[in-house]
Amino acid sequence: MNFIADDRWKYLRDGLVVTLQLTFCAVLIGIVIGVVIAMIRSTHDKNINEMHKGLGSLILKFLNFIAKVYLTVIRGTPVVVQLMIMYYIILASSSSKLLVGTIAFGINSGAYVAEIVRSGIMSVDQGQFEAGRSLGFNYVQTMRYIIIPQALKTVLPTLANEFIVLLKETSVAGYIAMQDLTKGGDIIRGATFSPYMPLFAVALIYLAMVMFFTFLVNRLERRLRNSER
Ligand code: ARG
Repeated sequence: MNFIADDRWKYLRDGLVVTLQLTFCAVLIGIVIGVVIAMIRSTHDKNINEMHKGLGSLILKFLNFIAKVYLTVIRGTPVVVQLMIMYYIILASSSSKLLVGTIAFGINSGAYVAEIVRSGIMSVDQGQFEAGRSLGFNYVQTMRYIIIPQALKTVLPTLANEFIVLLKETSVAGYIAMQDLTKGGDIIRGATFSPYMPLFAVALIYLAMVMFFTFLVNRLERRLRNSER
């Protein structure tokens, strides 16, 4: 391979862009899936159970079952394995690795986000459900207009943290030959026969990003706490 020194920066820069794209899109998918799954799972939690008696409770039971299977399978298997199953089996005909990666990490993230959002829903006072119901809202409306907004506010810092977790999790994207930041560093290592610079550089870039986003999350947390007073 003809590797000129300038290529190093190209691999790091392009890799970083892929990593950020992947993380950002996956976290968005994760939040959408997570909120939906959390809403379904919450119908099962005792204190809101009263509301949907008789109302298609068979369908709800079924959805609940699906949600439970999803959570169990996704959280019970390594994300790398899910990624490879997605790439080699389920979406084997797809030509876009970024798409495959985004979907795989999004589906993975959704399971973790669902539990985060669900804990937020549980933290909203029971009276809020009753208030929604007394306004004539059905279950979905109560969730959408009253419960979810309050729940999301509570879990916003934790959700933002999911972005940081995912940023590091995507470092296994090289398994499906995506050239993310980690893979970029590894390519440089292979081409230059010098492991030190590329691997430490990659580590440093991750560290700098994580520290930066942690700083933002902490600020967000402080701001939310102050707005409670
Ligand atoms: N490292 C874990 C695994 O391989 C995935 C954790 C993902 N966590 C998350 N919050 N998205 O299974």
